[in-house]
Amino acid sequence: MASEEFSGNYMEKARTSKGVSDFFPGRMTEFRRPAEGVFEFLTDNGVLLRVSLVGEGVVRFRFTPDGRFEDDFSYAVDPEHQPGTPEHEVVEFGDGVAIKTGSLSIRVNRGGLKTTVTDTKTGIILSQDEQGYHWQENKQYGGEIVKMSKVCRNGEHYYGLGDKSCDLNLRGRRFQMWGSDTYAYTPDTDPLYKNIPFYISLCKGAAHGIFFDNTFRTSFDLGAERPEVTSFFSQGGEMDYYFIHGPEPLDVIRRYTRLTGLVSMPALWTLGYHQCKWSYYPEAVVRGIADGFRSRRIPCDALYLDIDYMDGYRCFTWDAERFPNPKKMVAELEEDGFKTVAIIDPGLKIDPNYPIWQEAYDKGYFCRRQDGSLFKGSVWPGLCHFPDFTNPEVRDWWAGLFHGLIAETGVRGIWNDMNEPAVFEEGTFPRDVRHDYDGHPCSHRKAHNVYGMQMVRATQEGLRRNSNGRRTFSITRSAYAGTQRFACAWTGDNVASWEHLSIANLQCQRLASCGMSFIGSDVGGFIETPTAELYLRWIQLAVFHPFFRTHSSGDHGDQEPWSFDKKTTGLVRDAIELRYQLLPTVYTTFRQYVRDGTPMLRSLPFVDFNNPDAYWRSAEFFFGDHLYVVPIMAEGEEGRFLYLPKGDWFAYHDDSHPKAVAKDIWIECPLDRIPVFVRSGAIIPHWPVQQYVGEIEHPEPELRIWTKLGSETSEWYEDEGDGQAWRDGGFRESKINLQGDKGSLSLHREWHGHWEPGYETVHLTFCGIDSDAPDLKVLIDHHEQRAVRGDDGRYRVNTHRNFYSVNLEWTPVKAPKRKAGEKKSQPEK
Ligand code: GLC
Repeated sequence: MASEEFSGNYMEKARTSKGVSDFFPGRMTEFRRPAEGVFEFLTDNGVLLRVSLVGEGVVRFRFTPDGRFEDDFSYAVDPEHQPGTPEHEVVEFGDGVAIKTGSLSIRVNRGGLKTTVTDTKTGIILSQDEQGYHWQENKQYGGEIVKMSKVCRNGEHYYGLGDKSCDLNLRGRRFQMWGSDTYAYTPDTDPLYKNIPFYISLCKGAAHGIFFDNTFRTSFDLGAERPEVTSFFSQGGEMDYYFIHGPEPLDVIRRYTRLTGLVSMPALWTLGYHQCKWSYYPEAVVRGIADGFRSRRIPCDALYLDIDYMDGYRCFTWDAERFPNPKKMVAELEEDGFKTVAIIDPGLKIDPNYPIWQEAYDKGYFCRRQDGSLFKGSVWPGLCHFPDFTNPEVRDWWAGLFHGLIAETGVRGIWNDMNEPAVFEEGTFPRDVRHDYDGHPCSHRKAHNVYGMQMVRATQEGLRRNSNGRRTFSITRSAYAGTQRFACAWTGDNVASWEHLSIANLQCQRLASCGMSFIGSDVGGFIETPTAELYLRWIQLAVFHPFFRTHSSGDHGDQEPWSFDKKTTGLVRDAIELRYQLLPTVYTTFRQYVRDGTPMLRSLPFVDFNNPDAYWRSAEFFFGDHLYVVPIMAEGEEGRFLYLPKGDWFAYHDDSHPKAVAKDIWIECPLDRIPVFVRSGAIIPHWPVQQYVGEIEHPEPELRIWTKLGSETSEWYEDEGDGQAWRDGGFRESKINLQGDKGSLSLHREWHGHWEPGYETVHLTFCGIDSDAPDLKVLIDHHEQRAVRGDDGRYRVNTHRNFYSVNLEWTPVKAPKRKAGEKKSQPEK
């Protein structure tokens, strides 16, 4: 009998242990084409395989052992994803059938329905079944344990799988998906909070992805049990997976993200800095924190209320003593530039005097056990019942509960926690708990991994209904594939340790590669207290995490930016200010994620994919197109070796221009510095520092422009920062091309969208110019101006908001030759 916990070598055990037998498809007896782009293969023992072409480069494989599929229903696949069927042809040959599209050839073998996917342009086999599809009867629960094994190729590496806390490269490991409340997890803890059964394979520069759309407890073995085999298997449901072609890794991620859902533009304030603690109360403490930011001039956009704002942890209530007038408090915070975000958990306290519990009870909205009794479990409020968020009627009711918090009180964001779901006694619900699953009744075995997603889906709907057209903000701890459509996420209960700083870096990159770019960690660590240095380095990393929030459990000391020494406060302020300066860049990068599904954080192996040296690197990552971030993750580290990828790079802070590429170089990184490099030719939009988004009505942007020998394109996205006009062209999306040569550069800008900026002036700053002239001639839209050199060696000039061309010329100064005996600045490795 297969264990629910999957301990040990499950695949192998299943093949060898007594009483357990695997079944395999027999010989193909029929091939049919029931619809355009859909192909079915039937075997002599009743197995049915359906192959569907789901847009360019995406192929769905669905197997059933008895000739009938379940209802075609998925929480992950975005209903709005309706790609056309790509052109294709079908070739039948002795041994099987081949379906050929412009880029792929999918072969299905007559003996056993084994499949092979080949890149038709390169002729390289990308995916090849080993044992292929097979299954085992699940005698305990019914249905089948479904399995797929594929050849793990020489030189093949794996990435993705959601929030795993180990190094990025997953080759040689095994993982599970079963959302779990994992307080103080470690790099070995698995599973964690989120369930994203999607991995990216990278082999000698060619990438593809596998998305196994199965919500039962699933496992992935990436060459752990047998180095030459990769398998994925699940305790129930169907073998239903998507092959997602690249050939580049970022293409795979884009396609996966489009399949499971593109996101909407966030309100700009959500990209500012957020401050949270378990818990800030009473009201005077919250106001004190707000004052703490403004009086010290540390920018901040959002303050959080954790569970102690409620009356006895009853969701949608307020503790009247601690918060006698929440509406007034929230309004006054808002006047001061702070948005209030409040937590809402799934468990509703069993209390007949609590109207929300009573209503859900009366309407039959709580989850029941198999024999009909209500499921009870303890969480913060004590014994609770839990709404069945997989029931659309329950979600609709839940969405309706937010009127008070959002429309009446003015709360601007909702934070959903404990939605794995977490229960104190047993960790989660018993397996027999019943769920509606949108009209496909099932047990918790099937619904567990989507429970949190459906909760935050209902929450987001509640926000939408009450936000008057404003963009909504919701946060979730648990997730299934596709949850990005409904919420941003954080990585759960981490620890204030250097190891966890590095885990935060890994998890955020990894989640970004799984469609969830709007991600962050509890900065500084949730459990225990960071040292000043750790807190600072964490803040410096999180400047480049889309969701930027300090959170701590609060029982170990304070964790506000000023809770350490004076010097640290100053350096933390500098880092947060940098985030506010970079907001237009963060926003532009977010826009690419919204538009194309391109991840905001791009792991090195996905960009430098032709270089196998990069495949095992985890620390360095790209933020957007042009920034390369090298976080400092060790105590006392004031310099480090780093890997500089192919290309030409400038240090962001001083325009120094390291020459070494694709190998380790040494950089200094004193406490006040975040090692960040800019691609040459990049144009990085900045804003002046604000204490919160909207403090300056129409901030004048500064475009920092780095030189290049050659050409580079940069994007710059702007809109009103909130509201829905962006959906209908209410934005300005500029593409700026730079052409550079020795002693000259020219910019050409084009834009589309009908949003008109409220500012008049754009500040241009030219960086990395090898001239020492006090000023330089610039032609802006063919009018001559002077760009003036600052002490930092950068040349500055102002222009108007609609500029479209810039030409700059200078006479390069010769770099002084190094004198004999003079030392290189880099120490030897
Ligand atoms: C959970 C959350 C944490 C929150 C706490 C109290 O541990 O992960 O962020 O502060 O519950 O609500």
